[in-house]
Amino acid sequence: MKFLGGPRLLQGLIVLVVFIGALPALSNELTGDSQAGRSLVASRQKGLCLLCHSGPFPEEPFQGNIAPNLSDLVANLSATQLRARIMNPAITNPQTIMPSYYQPEHLTRVSKPYQGQSILSLKEIDDVVAYLMTLKKE
Ligand code: HEC
Repeated sequence: MKFLGGPRLLQGLIVLVVFIGALPALSNELTGDSQAGRSLVASRQKGLCLLCHSGPFPEEPFQGNIAPNLSDLVANLSATQLRARIMNPAITNPQTIMPSYYQPEHLTRVSKPYQGQSILSLKEIDDVVAYLMTLKKE
């Protein structure tokens, strides 16, 4: 039986499948500014990561010890996985105490001026991910 649509369609389908397969790799592309990301992670006003995590910040005397060290936790996570966990850590651990940095809905007890807002913008999350990727050891 002749393939429906002929070899052209088959070719098109193959190209499409290969393209879809490449998508996760594409989104792993780092577009953020790692220097800006470092500042966000260390910031006591915005990122607040060091409230719970520790990391390579010799200038920051008080760092958290209730969450894994940032240099250690990056080891087995891709940029895409890091981004997902920062946006909404409850995806992998519904009981987590880590805030969802990009999840403006379904939150409880958010004071009026902050309702409907995310803690970080998507650009800022990309910056943080770009910084965290620099912590990966070869
Ligand atoms: C209130 C405490 C707290 C804050 C603030 C916090 N985290 Fe976390 N984070 C945790 C805890 C605890 C875990 C361990 C896993 C869990 O409980 O979900 C974690 C896990 C993670 C993970 C996933 C590690 C893994 O192995 O899956 C990443 C990535 C991460 N944090 C990055 C950050 C970044 C970046 C910031 C700042 C933008 C931040 N965290 C702020 C508490 C926090």
